[in-house]
Amino acid sequence: MTSNPFGHFDAGGRAFVITDPGTPSPWVNVICNGRYGLVVSQNGGGFSWLDNSQLNVLTRWEMDLVRDRWGKFLYLRDLETEDVWSASPMPCRARFDRYSCTHTTGATTFRTEYAGISATWTLTVAPDDPVEIWRVELTNTTARERRLRIASFFEWCCGVAPDAKREFHRLFFTTRYDAARRAVFASKNMWDVPARDEKDHWNRPWPYVAAHAVGGLAFERDVAISDKSAFLGRYGEQDCPEAMAADRPPSPAGFGRFNDASVSLGGDFRIAAGGTVRLHYLTACAETDAAVHELIDRYNTASAVDAAVGAADAAWANRLAPTSVRTEMPDLDLLNNHWLPYQAISGRLWARTGYYQQSGAFGFRDQLQDSQVWLPLEPARCRAQILQHSAHQFADGSVYHWWHPLTETGLRTMCSDDYLWLPFITISYLKETGDFQILDEQAPFVDVKAPAPLLEHCLRAFARCFQRFSPRGLPLIGSCDWNDGLSACGIEGRGESVWLAQFLAAMLDDFAVVLERAGRAVLAREFRERRERIARAVNEHAWNGSWYRRATRDDGRWVGDVDSSEGKIYLNAQTWAILSGVAPADRAAAAWQAVQEHLLGDMGPLLLAPAYTVPDRDVGYITRYTPGLRENGGVYMHAATWALMAACMMRDTSTAERIWRAISPPLRGEDAEAYVAEPYVTPGNVDGPLSQTPGKAGWTWYTGSAAWLNRVCLQHLFGIRPTWDGLVVEPAPFPSMGRVDVTRTWRGCPVRVRFDAREFKAGAAARLVVNGKTIDGHTVPAETARAGMPISIEVSWGNNAGTAEAAAVAAGRTYR
Ligand code: GLC
Repeated sequence: MTSNPFGHFDAGGRAFVITDPGTPSPWVNVICNGRYGLVVSQNGGGFSWLDNSQLNVLTRWEMDLVRDRWGKFLYLRDLETEDVWSASPMPCRARFDRYSCTHTTGATTFRTEYAGISATWTLTVAPDDPVEIWRVELTNTTARERRLRIASFFEWCCGVAPDAKREFHRLFFTTRYDAARRAVFASKNMWDVPARDEKDHWNRPWPYVAAHAVGGLAFERDVAISDKSAFLGRYGEQDCPEAMAADRPPSPAGFGRFNDASVSLGGDFRIAAGGTVRLHYLTACAETDAAVHELIDRYNTASAVDAAVGAADAAWANRLAPTSVRTEMPDLDLLNNHWLPYQAISGRLWARTGYYQQSGAFGFRDQLQDSQVWLPLEPARCRAQILQHSAHQFADGSVYHWWHPLTETGLRTMCSDDYLWLPFITISYLKETGDFQILDEQAPFVDVKAPAPLLEHCLRAFARCFQRFSPRGLPLIGSCDWNDGLSACGIEGRGESVWLAQFLAAMLDDFAVVLERAGRAVLAREFRERRERIARAVNEHAWNGSWYRRATRDDGRWVGDVDSSEGKIYLNAQTWAILSGVAPADRAAAAWQAVQEHLLGDMGPLLLAPAYTVPDRDVGYITRYTPGLRENGGVYMHAATWALMAACMMRDTSTAERIWRAISPPLRGEDAEAYVAEPYVTPGNVDGPLSQTPGKAGWTWYTGSAAWLNRVCLQHLFGIRPTWDGLVVEPAPFPSMGRVDVTRTWRGCPVRVRFDAREFKAGAAARLVVNGKTIDGHTVPAETARAGMPISIEVSWGNNAGTAEAAAVAAGRTYR
């Protein structure tokens, strides 16, 4: 199991234990049950929300890249020595005698010891209710009775984050103390959400009630304070609040309407020598007083808390269990078994937030791509995501680039690829499930309420794209394509996108299959012909002799060409030439060679090279980023996963291994000071060579690379790929993977695939033994999947190079 100076993996890779809180950046967990969520760092920094991590944030947090000082805290005080500390490093930064912070799927636990008191503080979310649960256990490790005070503390936000104008926002809060429940309720009669009707602005209530409660331990004296200044004191600091230092804190204090709404609950108690006490805190949010009372009452016992902590843990274990990966590479296993799907589901689909990137919105293309993570786990959830997105399409085929759940407000742009991800993911869903009935599912348009079937939504997406082509047959880039930063190339309506042409070509043949099955043979033929025309146009205009150019500006000048002063070669235009099959074999080989020569460095495949150092207003804001960062010539992890996929398709497994070792967070994270970010989740980007800190990762959690890396591993490295005809098994492994034993569900059946990666030969076709019988070719027919019966597949590579099939495999032409 890999480790670094700040921590190590544990529990079979499912947990990461941080043992030194001085990590180079906050290493966080994003815990969400689909509605209620929280982010917590190894310091105890973080925040909570319901349904939308930007518009409906419950607790205050502000972005500070250095001081991790905004959070929901738990203070302790020794009433004899007057020592005040906290159960996590922040905010008191006590010198703990023992410290660890364990992030795992669905929970985070701090274990600390200070002044003879050990504290175990677990934070989780009930699996099916909007309730955050803290379970706290305190043990007196000394030989004398101790008198202690415990108190929670956080500030209410109750709406859009950040509420930077606090003096204004505080005018709308009401807090109330319910002594019988030992609970504080907060409401706010203004909600600063973008309103469609301007008359409405600042003139609507926050339609929820939030609650915070303490239970499980009787106090000699209660602390219940709901005003920041009453808790911290005038000019007070959060590392030593006045209410913790005072012998008799004011309590209850600060309730009503005239305060700076915060909450602190707890009290004074004793622990016998060697004794242990337990207590819990709940934070909940619901639409009505009655609903929030019911939640608090239901969870407010030690046994309910234990049951919820266990249920949250089991829910994640069960959710991820259908896929199991066992190789001789621990990082490959733990990422695919736990962290990649967890990141994609908890972080991207449900929370829609990282630590420094709170979004809350659905990106049209982003969450559709993320929903691929469900395909081998619970395909019905991918289905629901597809239908949800189709209802965010306009009748003309355009879509909201992103939209906010709760307010249903969004941004409509001239971005040229986002609407095409609807058919792309629909194709993946159909290959996975064979559920063609989804094409008849009805969804409305944003601007036309009359619903239309999904097939019609997909056709409108294509139709919109088909209308936007240049005279020479390449699609227009509009205000951007996948690469948001190419924001000016096509703003006047003439710039073209080569990547978009390849992306479109990659799905037109597949969609022709969809159309045939839907009885639309004529249209299917048109789609196939169109694909050929697009492939021809790409090869005629975008090939520069050594690689594929990326785009044109409105004035016709190329982006991503040898004579470009910067940004001479772009990764996506090479990888997608291969993935789409648009590149003939010789050009695929040459483009792949160019990737290795110009883009593939020690930190992974760069998105482009060299990075822009001079802003180019005709290309877009990508050229304004610091060189080497984000899209500007760093490793953009989302695109790096496509490079890994291309390596597998080229059967270039030594480059696949090189890419894997360069991007695998557990491996890169071994040099934690250089890598900086969490070693258990993928980062959005890693700094490229022109950065002062090459190899530094950032923007973790909130990245589409998690779902894609999981898909590329399962479908291409392990080669277990649903297709129209059945399940193709065609691994492209590298020797260090050793003995491989992978199980994934396919059409309700557990499919177990075993092989020895050391036997793989690039030029040789794989031999498949399915349930004991050798089959011809690589496709396990769809009929094999019957009533949940397990399917067992052994793969080996005989010495049969030289067959036509092996040649096709070697040329990487068997993608579909
Ligand atoms: C961001 C966007 C994503 C886009 C990518 C590349 O991650 O959310 O939609 O494709 O950047 O620009």
